[in-house]
Amino acid sequence: MQAYVLGAGKTRFGPSSHPMTRLAHEAILGALSDADMRIDEIGAFVVANFLGGPNESQLHLNSVIAGLFPGMHIPGWRVEAACASGGVAIHQAVTMLGAYDPILVVGVERLSGRPGNELTRNIGMAGDAILDQAQGLNFPATYALVAQRHMQRYGTTTRDFEIVSLKNHANAQLNPLAHFHHKKVAQADIDAGATVASPLRLFDCCPVSDGAAAVIVSAKPRDERSVPIIGSGVGTDVISLAQREDHTSFAAAREAARVAYGQAGITAADIDLVEVHDCFTIAEIVAMEDLGLAEPGSAVELIRAGETGIGGSMPVNPSGGLKAGGHAIGATGVGQVYEATRQLRGEAGKRQVEGAEIAVTHNVGGVGGTCAVQVLGRLS
Ligand code: COA
Repeated sequence: MQAYVLGAGKTRFGPSSHPMTRLAHEAILGALSDADMRIDEIGAFVVANFLGGPNESQLHLNSVIAGLFPGMHIPGWRVEAACASGGVAIHQAVTMLGAYDPILVVGVERLSGRPGNELTRNIGMAGDAILDQAQGLNFPATYALVAQRHMQRYGTTTRDFEIVSLKNHANAQLNPLAHFHHKKVAQADIDAGATVASPLRLFDCCPVSDGAAAVIVSAKPRDERSVPIIGSGVGTDVISLAQREDHTSFAAAREAARVAYGQAGITAADIDLVEVHDCFTIAEIVAMEDLGLAEPGSAVELIRAGETGIGGSMPVNPSGGLKAGGHAIGATGVGQVYEATRQLRGEAGKRQVEGAEIAVTHNVGGVGGTCAVQVLGRLS
């Protein structure tokens, strides 16, 4: 596979008063500037978004984005795969490079400003409408079932969830674009957090974020800052947990990783850092196991030993992840590739993983209904 990230841009994830158009525009201009390119050099574009329809009464986002650049008439379309929209959009762009080159991928989402019950219902559209939502299984409740099963089977504890949360909040303090960049979180804050869906409490949940991220991909490197995408896989699975045999692991993630690692010619042992979809703390543990970073049930050994911190043997979510970096749904998977690009170029500032050569991104839609995995490397 021949694909390179030429440029990457991102807004801060977090509450914003800006409309989707302004958020997307900022991220796109950031990516163009990073690549030292003009918009008229782009061959096609893909927009990743989940809730533009129900939240903002705005679908047809390719036309909306085209309107940001008067005179732009290149092909563009929208990709939707729930919270995996961004990762799937990048996969689609990478696999279409024979037809268009370069391709701009922009992920954008506005979530804040909606009443809580309406937002919960809309986010719930990523789950099964009949088997899950109708039974009251909103997102935190569904991941709570995953957590309960993991605890029963493997002895995982709520203390493990707390370590994940504290680590990701500490990383977010090193990331100026993170939702909780300015919030110092201590054990006492976690202890004070209300139960959202037992065993998950406030600090086990990602926040509700607005934001956008953009990357420009091409089959050819542009300069020495271009970052190769050496593997890209997408897996899918039945949408409802009720129809799954195993609630402690996501087959879609294992399949996406199998394909992406195969293309890249790597094993999990070659990975220097991962950005994983920790929409809830339990999801970071499941992700590590699905990506092969640990045997099923044993990710907690790395977590308890502090090995998933930035200076550890297997850094997980140096950006702060979704938990503390924020989760602007359609932008999240693109934001993960932005972070991997910064890390592999050595441009991640205080959160830099020293000497990183292989980075993996893992972006999940629903409760494992879709997963996109990307493997990024360094120009040799
Ligand atoms: N983690 C830590 N702090 C959080 C937080 C989170 N996830 N969500 C909100 N807060 C903080 C806010 O910053 C605010 O702090 P402040 O008083 O110091 O300003 C306080 O909690 C209240 O914020 P509010 O927005 O009123 O919280 P809420 O109770 O309405 O929402 C959740 C909390 C957990 C329900 C909400 O964040 C949520 O739904 N998260 C999950 C989103 C989701 O499911 N996404 C898709 C996953 S795939």
